[in-house]
Amino acid sequence: MAMWDGRFSAETNKELARFSESVHYDKRLYAFDIMGSKAHVKMLAKQGIIPERTAWLISEELDNIKRRIDAGDFEFKSELEDIHMNIESALIGKLGAEGARLHSGRSRNDQIALDIRLYLRSEIQEIQDLIVALQKALFSQAEAHRETILPGFTHTQHAQVVLFAHHMLAYMEMFERDRGRLTDCSNRMNVMPLGSGALAGSTLHLDRRMVCEELGFTAVTRNSMDAVSDRDFIIELLGALSIFAMHISRLSEDFVWWSSQEFQFIEFADEFCTGSSLMPQKKNPDVAELARGKTGRVYGALMALLTVCKGLPLTYNRDLQEDKEELFDAIDTVKMILRVYPPMIATMTVKSDNMRRAACDPSLMATDLAEQLVKQGVPFRTAHHQVGELVKLALAARKPLDRLTLDEMKQAIPTATADFLEMFKPEASVAKREIVGGTGYNAVASQLGFWRGKLA
Ligand code: ARG
Repeated sequence: MAMWDGRFSAETNKELARFSESVHYDKRLYAFDIMGSKAHVKMLAKQGIIPERTAWLISEELDNIKRRIDAGDFEFKSELEDIHMNIESALIGKLGAEGARLHSGRSRNDQIALDIRLYLRSEIQEIQDLIVALQKALFSQAEAHRETILPGFTHTQHAQVVLFAHHMLAYMEMFERDRGRLTDCSNRMNVMPLGSGALAGSTLHLDRRMVCEELGFTAVTRNSMDAVSDRDFIIELLGALSIFAMHISRLSEDFVWWSSQEFQFIEFADEFCTGSSLMPQKKNPDVAELARGKTGRVYGALMALLTVCKGLPLTYNRDLQEDKEELFDAIDTVKMILRVYPPMIATMTVKSDNMRRAACDPSLMATDLAEQLVKQGVPFRTAHHQVGELVKLALAARKPLDRLTLDEMKQAIPTATADFLEMFKPEASVAKREIVGGTGYNAVASQLGFWRGKLA
């Protein structure tokens, strides 16, 4: 029989039991469930709600149960629905009436709100550490290739030349914001819900502050109805993870193109690629593709949770049990990506020569010509038009821009001087962009300096 069977006269329908159980996935919360119960029972004793000795017995037995679960020596029963009742039932099985005092002043509604917070606090920390490892891998490539130049794109068209390090460090910024979002989210969820009971608090004289301190939360929740029905902290986390996954997906897209035969800008180490079962020549960038693809699952979790919570009346509703599988999957997915990405980046070969060759396309320097005219005092729109004329002229003459003579150049740009002919070296173009946040050698060196300090 279930632990709530008092008012029931018939056994639960078998299909319903299967439909409603969650222990096959929420068992991953066991250590946090036990941590919460131990804090609760200590407080119950201190408040004189249960005897000290009972609290001690319960606490010891909870440790035993944890050891058994750690060792894989605990039988989870789906008829006991969830992790909370599996643990409590084992406790009562061992301690009888003494064990039955644990749940005083508590409901599974505030219990699960506590457990998920404890669990997420630790997962978020782990994900943040993994993001730092990813940033270190990006940094090592940026640093090792700090002089490498490649074309920068807008609309997937050659735009202006940039340093490879600048391109990598753009992703550093994104991942840094992702880390910040996780910190915000962790801080906001760090409130202690126990004592909210099923929805309205408790008639027992519980010391919520004590439990709060025991478990390292910053505050107790202010409103019991909110505390048992709120899952916005999960949605916020899934939002942050979705944005992170979106960033990973964009990086993956760059990598996939760069490793194609058309680009040949990078090559992944064999251990991070797979072959084709049919085409013998293939070496595919699967890690990047899978990461790009797995982004969909993370977005899916966010959409699922938003949908589960939409329109739920206060307070707790069983719908909320549907938060966990999606959440766990999103967390597992992100962690899996973060375990393969840093070594994949650290071991990829950056083909600097190919990048530079592509960056020699003189049209990448068209903006430099226009800005040179601005320095001469020509209004920018006029300068833009003149350089546009020059591009048209070069196309008609079937010559690249850097093969035009000064006379030809003057047909489009009347004030062109000999030094205009020297402006097509990619190194020269990069060297001119020493503005803060630009791709100049020194500007990028100072970005590298910032990250070296930050990641130390
Ligand atoms: N397994 C439940 C959940 O995940 C725990 C809370 C159940 N509460 C209840 N009254 N049935 O949401």
